[in-house]
Amino acid sequence: MSIKVSPSILSADFANLEKDCRMVIDAGADMLHIDVMDGHFVPNISLGIPVVKSLRKKSDAFFDVHLMISKPHLYAKQFCDAGADLVSFHLESDSDVMETINIIRSCGKKVGIVIKPATPTAEVYKYIDKVDLVLIMSVEPGFGGQKFMPVAVDKIARVHGKAKELGLTDLMIEVDGGINEKTAVMCKYAGANVLVAGSYVFGAQDVADAVAKLKA
Ligand code: DX5
Ligand code: ZN
Repeated sequence: MSIKVSPSILSADFANLEKDCRMVIDAGADMLHIDVMDGHFVPNISLGIPVVKSLRKKSDAFFDVHLMISKPHLYAKQFCDAGADLVSFHLESDSDVMETINIIRSCGKKVGIVIKPATPTAEVYKYIDKVDLVLIMSVEPGFGGQKFMPVAVDKIARVHGKAKELGLTDLMIEVDGGINEKTAVMCKYAGANVLVAGSYVFGAQDVADAVAKLKA
């Protein structure tokens, strides 16, 4: 599977969101990573359903929605209806995992599960054949611009190994947090095929060059 880049719009200019989203897609990004934070699951608040809905009217891009919220089962359908193409939620949330997967599936959307840096990789194995994407966090969720945690590399390799063992060749293995041209190399080598990058892409002088470096 070729490497896909999903810029996190958390690092975009929220007053010019349409323009910034178009910029990264024109620069070669494959999708848009939309970070949703509720001030409860993580100590920060970002954006919600109305923003996804508005953005959907302005963009045909694939929306990779990352829910960092305590009760994803209560809101997953609304994010699907607002225009998400893929909805990922945390295994550390309060929601029942299978129930939440089924809600997203019944909306006809792709499903992702996410684990924080301290959550053992084995937690995802129970659901790995029921989802489209596994997201390995390489920072504590909540903020952009943090330093990459190397513990993620081994976790990516384990998920990659498990997927291979089960013949899940289409599984997307995504990594999120502190990704730049250097940390991306380790993640790709370990088996990640979707790279989220916020500050590295939006902070670049040459955005197309930054996206190309991540994909290379
Ligand atoms: C962190 C978010 C990330 C973050 C990535 O909670 O899930 O998507 O915005 O930002 P960078 O690439 O700057 O670490
Ligand atoms: Zn994210």
